Amino acid sequence: METQATSAAPFGLRNDVYRRPLATALERLELGPGWRCVDVGAGTGDVAIALAQVVGHEGRVYAVDSDPLARDASARAAARYSQVVSITQAAEDLLLPEAVDLAFCRFLLLHVADPVVAVSRMAGVLAPGGWLVAQEPITSAGRIAGKPFQMPDARHPDVGAYLPAIVRDAGLAISDAWAEAPAGIGDGPVARYVEELTGVDARDDPIVLPPLVTVLARRPS
Ligand SMILES: C[S@@+](CC[C@H](N)C(=O)[O-])C[C@H]1O[C@@H](n2cnc3c(N)ncnc32)[C@H](O)[C@@H]1O
Repeated sequence: METQATSAAPFGLRNDVYRRPLATALERLELGPGWRCVDVGAGTGDVAIALAQVVGHEGRVYAVDSDPLARDASARAAARYSQVVSITQAAEDLLLPEAVDLAFCRFLLLHVADPVVAVSRMAGVLAPGGWLVAQEPITSAGRIAGKPFQMPDARHPDVGAYLPAIVRDAGLAISDAWAEAPAGIGDGPVARYVEELTGVDARDDPIVLPPLVTVLARRPS
C-alpha cells in the first residue's frame, strides 16, 4: 500500500498524537506566566492557545501564519485569550513588535521555501537568552505496513533530519534534541490521524508515524 499524506492537516488530532514531544519541550523550558512567545506557522492556533494558557494575560503569544485563513482561524479560536495576537506573515519575513522569550514552530519548516532563512528569522526575534523550539518531521522514516510514509506536497518532507544543523548554524546554542514517533495498530488516534491525512484506512496495519525531531536551543545572553 502506498500512503501519501497531504498538508491538509487534522490539527486537533495532531495535538493528540504528537502531544508528548510538545509537553516535554514546554516542561524543559519551564515556560511560565509573563513569557512573550511566537508560534510561527500557527495554523488554527492549537499550540498558540496552549502557550497562552501558560503565559497568562500578562504574557503575549503571536500566532503567525502566511495563510490569512489560518490567521482568521487562530484569531477565532483564541477569542477568549487577549494575550494572543494573530498575524498574517511569512516565516521568511518574520518581524515582531517586540523581542520574544520563545520562538516556536511545529510542522512548519517542511513547507517553507527556505528552512534556513525561516530559522534565522526566528532566531532574530529572540531576546538575549530566549529559546527556540522547533519540531519537524522526518517524513520518510514513518512506516505504514512497513512502507515509508510520503508527503508529496511538502517541500522538505525530511527537514527534521537536518534540524539540529539548521538551528546551530543560526547561531543558537542547542541544549537538547531528540526524535519521537507515535506508533500503533488498530483503532485509535494514530490510525485516525493517518486516515485524515491520507484518506487511507490503515487500522489493520502497524503504523509508525513520522518521527518528530525536537530541538531546544537558546540565543546566547
Ligand atoms: C502543517 S501546518 C502546522 C500547523 C501547526 N504548527 C501545528 O503543528 O498543528 C503548517 C502551517 O504552516 C503555514 N505555513 C506554510 N508556509 C509558511 C510560511 N512560509 N510562513 C508561515 N507559515 C507558513 C501553513 O499555512 C499552515 O498553517
